[in-house]
Amino acid sequence: MAREDAQGGGDGAGVAAVHDSLTVTDNRTGQSFDLPITDGTVKAMDFRQMKTGEEDFGLMTYDPAFTNTAHCRSEICFIDGAKGVLEYRGYPIEQLCEQSTYLEVAYLLVHGQLPTDDALSCWKHMVTHHTYVHESIKKSMEVFRYNAHPMAMLLSTVGALSTFYPAAKDLESETERYMAIIRLVAKMPTLAAFAYRHSVGLPYVYPDNDLSYPGNFLSMLYKMTEVKYEPDPRLEKALDVLWILHADHEQNCSTAAVRGVGSSQVDPYSAVAAGVAALYGPLHGGANEAVLRMLARIGTVEDIPAFLQGVKDRKERLMGFGHRVYKNYDPRARIIKKHVDEVLEIVGSDNPKVGIAVELEKHALDDEYFTDRKLYPNVDFYSGLIYEAMSIPTDMFTVMFAIPRTAGWLAQWHEMLEDPETKIARPRQIYTGERELDYVPIEQRV
Ligand code: CMC
Repeated sequence: MAREDAQGGGDGAGVAAVHDSLTVTDNRTGQSFDLPITDGTVKAMDFRQMKTGEEDFGLMTYDPAFTNTAHCRSEICFIDGAKGVLEYRGYPIEQLCEQSTYLEVAYLLVHGQLPTDDALSCWKHMVTHHTYVHESIKKSMEVFRYNAHPMAMLLSTVGALSTFYPAAKDLESETERYMAIIRLVAKMPTLAAFAYRHSVGLPYVYPDNDLSYPGNFLSMLYKMTEVKYEPDPRLEKALDVLWILHADHEQNCSTAAVRGVGSSQVDPYSAVAAGVAALYGPLHGGANEAVLRMLARIGTVEDIPAFLQGVKDRKERLMGFGHRVYKNYDPRARIIKKHVDEVLEIVGSDNPKVGIAVELEKHALDDEYFTDRKLYPNVDFYSGLIYEAMSIPTDMFTVMFAIPRTAGWLAQWHEMLEDPETKIARPRQIYTGERELDYVPIEQRV
């Protein structure tokens, strides 16, 4: 409200103005306004009242890429980028990685609290018994080209799930919402594994209900002629930890996509497909894949200085480094780093890319160009190395990220639906194009 009003009215906003407010003077009109500050934010809509005249639309805020705009309230994931803190529903990521499992973390994200023993058994049972996909989905995957990227296959098949569950459109139904969450968490590994088997020309392996969530995934990836696949428990654990680390990360590109698309009240399969699409990009989930390609391109430890010079000359980008939020260290990278050596020991890999990655990190952390810009390794710098050591092809890395992020997307989607402040996402623009041109017939155009 305009300042005179706020002071004269003596209402709640006027009282709040003493401390928790921002006073803004519009120098175009000389008018001052007191805007309430709540939770360290001012409402962009409060600027709309600042006008130069009746015809004026009102002041907007400009924030490409939403670098300083909160688009929702959320109780799911807390990040303190400066201190390198990550918590899911208040629980530090370090404790969850040490003591929990991915499926329990998925429950925590979706339900808001840790499960009791019975609740966890029920959740596991539900997820385990919805891992199969309709045979037509399997058939639809068979029509992809032999070299189709598994992430593109995943993107389309997640979208296709919406055709199998038309009742999921009923967003008013708590049961339908819950079933969509269960189905998506359960089927994502199946679709991911089928995409992999398709890309290597192997028959698809059906889920095995006796195995754990990560163990079943390893079975669907690697099972050959053996009657029963027995996953190495150490690899199962490493995968589980990686998936806990990737389960949610507040308002990143793909989560914002799920919320934005979901705000149109489309069904959850379509909303999650939007998340998969956003994750596919090399600046987001595609970064782990890009890291491995970068390490292959560097070739040898001796070539690292030349590569880093290329980065400084802006001919290259140091993939797996830097983060929009973490400007100190990505706590997920710290946890993963510990597991890299462990996995390498299990699989006995002497992959030269690991040596290059270790040296590359040392060089970058010792170079002012990177430290001045607060560029440190992020989660993707190491996750790719673990997947590589587990013989998972590079093309599959982003898919490996999409599996665990599904729980985060769905928790955020559900929270968005429940939030009374939710409206369809619809940003504004600053129009910079031409206006009111006269149409020119084609024969008169030059
Ligand atoms: N290599 C070289 N320079 C970089 C990099 C990088 N990876 N990241 C940032 N910079 C530079 C950037 O050029 C800029 O320099 P200057 O100020 O001289 O112009 C400065 O650092 C600040 O960067 P920014 O572009 O403002 O940073 P951002 O917050 O917009 O970008 C990022 C964040 C993750 C997109 C970026 O750091 C990047 O492209 N990293 C490589 C891709 C990557 O690893 N992505 C995975 C992120 S973690 C997984 C996930 O959550 O998706």
